[in-house]
Amino acid sequence: MLVVRTESPTDTAEVRDLLVAAFGQDDEAELVDLLRLSPDYIPELTLVAEEAGEIVGHVMVTWVPLHLDGGGRRDVLCVAPLAVRPDRQRRGIGRALLGEALRRADAMGEPFAGLEGDPEYYSRCGFVVAGEHGLRLPSPTVPAWAHQVYLLGGHDPALRGRITYPPVFWALAATGFPEPVADEGPYAVPWLFELAHYAGWIESVTLSADLGRAVPACPGWSVGDLLAHLGTVHRRAAGWVRSGRCPRTVPAPPPGPADGAGSGDALWRWYADGWRDLRDVLAAAGPETPAATWSPWEATLGFWRRRMVHETAVHSRDVLEALHGGDGGPGPDGGDGRGGTGAGDGYRRVHAWTVRDEVALDGIDEVLRLWLGTRLGDRCDGDGALVRVAAGGRVWTVGLHPGTVEVHDLPTAPDAVVSGAPAGVYAWLWGRAGDAAVTVEGDAAAVATLRRALAVATG
Ligand SMILES: CC(C)(COP(=O)(O)OP(=O)(O)OC[C@H]1O[C@@H](n2cnc3c(N)ncnc32)[C@H](O)[C@@H]1OP(=O)(O)O)[C@@H](O)C(=O)NCCC(=O)NCCS
Repeated sequence: MLVVRTESPTDTAEVRDLLVAAFGQDDEAELVDLLRLSPDYIPELTLVAEEAGEIVGHVMVTWVPLHLDGGGRRDVLCVAPLAVRPDRQRRGIGRALLGEALRRADAMGEPFAGLEGDPEYYSRCGFVVAGEHGLRLPSPTVPAWAHQVYLLGGHDPALRGRITYPPVFWALAATGFPEPVADEGPYAVPWLFELAHYAGWIESVTLSADLGRAVPACPGWSVGDLLAHLGTVHRRAAGWVRSGRCPRTVPAPPPGPADGAGSGDALWRWYADGWRDLRDVLAAAGPETPAATWSPWEATLGFWRRRMVHETAVHSRDVLEALHGGDGGPGPDGGDGRGGTGAGDGYRRVHAWTVRDEVALDGIDEVLRLWLGTRLGDRCDGDGALVRVAAGGRVWTVGLHPGTVEVHDLPTAPDAVVSGAPAGVYAWLWGRAGDAAVTVEGDAAAVATLRRALAVATG
């Protein structure tokens, strides 16, 4: 006989095995272990299905924040994860677990329970698309159809807003990029998709974070300072596009915790508003559309799309490192998806920051040709050494001279070669990874000169 009951502490090892078996990986088991430790855990909504003394199914329902349209916030229920042991699937166990969890949630007077999942399955269990009830996506990387809700007795149609996830979801889910989906509007567009991914990720993980925490990659800065910086850069770029020139002024950020000003909510909101406005400005026309820029060779919206992705992607890595510790970065082979160990905030593991090859290669080109080749070469203290940078089948040869840098792709024999996976070389050039992220051959002094010149651009 199948019994659905509240999970007890003695079930956890069996539950872990079940989750690993059902999902074929340990991410969801890790998520459940971390959620049990979090303030969002609801013991009476964490259930197991038991049959003949064995645990054959599990469901967890926890609190997630709903940011109400018109201001304010309240917690709502989120179903994640749901799993049935592979040898017992398709026998109604998933439905029984969901049914009991939803019955208990209803008895609590809750308005709805949300989740991300396959509508093929969840629509059979009474779930409907969340967007149709004014409940917006937690993330631009989640397709609209995957976000669903089950409306409970306490549902009020006026309860509308944006759901976000506690950082533990993001820390474990930020493993890379799902393929853009054609009907996702601006998010489907390469570069805008990346912008929303990195900027939205920063927004989500800083929502309930300590904004006073130091950012190791940007000495002297707190996470709040980084939000202020990014919010300013995003507004300046939007200003360039809107006014057709470098904007004379950019609105100042509200004070954050580093200024002794409260929790930083106003700063967080200012950051969140800024990147969304920038995204809308950059989505208004195609990438070839003329736009004022500071690039000597590219005056298009496409320039800003790519520039803002690099700015935001690199700093998202800094935020990951600041909030979760470790170097968080890809290794020489592009990383194994595992970052550092959390520092006192309940995290035992976070996934590494990742970057698609196309984005990484564009960023390598930008930092070498645009930053070093046109803007910062005058600070170079080289002696004429040639360093070749190679990644993803592309090659840049960088001539480091006193007060100037030339970048070309001629096959001239270099004094040193720096090569690796695009993500590793990107992180290395931007000063976010050590030499372990790349392969360095030849004249070490020439490579050191390149790193020094880059530090001016990327520090
Ligand atoms: C998804 C899962 C929880 C379903 O549990 P289950 O016990 O096998 O499902 P049920 O037997 O309760 O099925 C309920 C209904 O959904 C249907 N269904 C089950 N699995 C389905 C699937 N993968 N796709 C489409 N429909 C499915 C069943 O046919 C049934 O429909 P019916 O009542 O009209 O006949 C289970 O397959 C599982 O653990 N999968 C791996 C983990 C996972 O993907 N979890 C969900 C994301 S958090």
